[in-house]
Amino acid sequence: MLNLRVTLYLPDKYTKTSMSKFNVTTLGQFIIERQNEIPVAKGEFSRLLRDIGIAAKTISREVNRAGLAEILGDAGSENVQGEDQKKLDVIANNLVIDCLTRGGEVCAIASEENDEMIYIQSPVSNNAKYVVAMDPLDGSSNIDVNVSIGTIFSIFQRVTPVGSKPDLSDFFQPGNQMLAAGYVIYGTSTMLVYTTGNGVNGFTLDPSIGEFCLSHPDMKIPAMGKTYSYNEGNILSAPNGVKEYINWCQQVDKPTNRPYSARYIGSMVADFHRNLLKGGIFIYPPTAKSPNGKLRLMYECNPMAFIVEQAGGVADTGNGRVLDIVPNDLHQRVPIYMGSKDMVGQLLGLLHQ
Ligand code: AHG
Ligand code: MN
Ligand code: MN
Repeated sequence: MLNLRVTLYLPDKYTKTSMSKFNVTTLGQFIIERQNEIPVAKGEFSRLLRDIGIAAKTISREVNRAGLAEILGDAGSENVQGEDQKKLDVIANNLVIDCLTRGGEVCAIASEENDEMIYIQSPVSNNAKYVVAMDPLDGSSNIDVNVSIGTIFSIFQRVTPVGSKPDLSDFFQPGNQMLAAGYVIYGTSTMLVYTTGNGVNGFTLDPSIGEFCLSHPDMKIPAMGKTYSYNEGNILSAPNGVKEYINWCQQVDKPTNRPYSARYIGSMVADFHRNLLKGGIFIYPPTAKSPNGKLRLMYECNPMAFIVEQAGGVADTGNGRVLDIVPNDLHQRVPIYMGSKDMVGQLLGLLHQ
């Protein structure tokens, strides 16, 4: 009989020391490794973050095949703010609600797409300790034109007793009480960026293994940038300080790298993400149409403010720190100036003079 002896030969480049380039840290592994940093029930909170990761992957799948699956376009309905809902707004909203309901760690959800707080009444959620506020699909106007969009979330510990019916007081906590916040950007790749108050970490979805993998550890926003993100169509009704700042950005001055570049996508998640990586300022002041600003405190401004502060940046309404506002309405709007510390500082100086 033929005796076949097989020797497994691995060239040097595949030996143990070089295997590190094949290793990844998945979001799930990272959450477990870091769960000791969180001052709350660790296993439950980790499971909640994991559930959000699962919802993000599912939305990413729907976003990627939207053009083929006939889910572009209007849903034929409006949200409480009178904005047309897109089919993907509704799909993303339902996907997150479904995922969090089945996960069992959340007792209530506040969503940009729902008029009222959603009370999760399910046997698995009886002892749920957390509430989630979210913008399931940020940048809706960009869905149909294939431009980056996102999902934004924030997590609070409930203040009402566990086991009782949650109420609005669970949501009307200032942002400085947030346990975690994050966003998902559906861009050239899908990324999830989040903080639990110990820095900011970014994960890129590897479609080949279906996992978010740590790609941007300990993200820091540069103190200065060369980009401003502002809908200049609104400049005529902007506060004087904003007009002066934009004008300053546009002046030619070599030592300070001016003129700066205007970059405005119309999806805050995408504008914010670029500014986080490269440095820059995002501006949405009061306008003639939206005297309190357009962006929503609970779903958009608070989570991004937590992230930008954790990355070394600033988020302010022009009247103080975003995270110190005590909300009094689920759908409350606030002006926002956020991003690189020195840029926001200069703009605030002009606003206050
Ligand atoms: P949403 O799609 O969740 O309603 O949010 C859109 C927001 C934000 O993402 C973006 O920065 C801003 O609206 C754009 O508003 P303008 O078109 O008024 O500039
Ligand atoms: Mn939004
Ligand atoms: Mn939205």
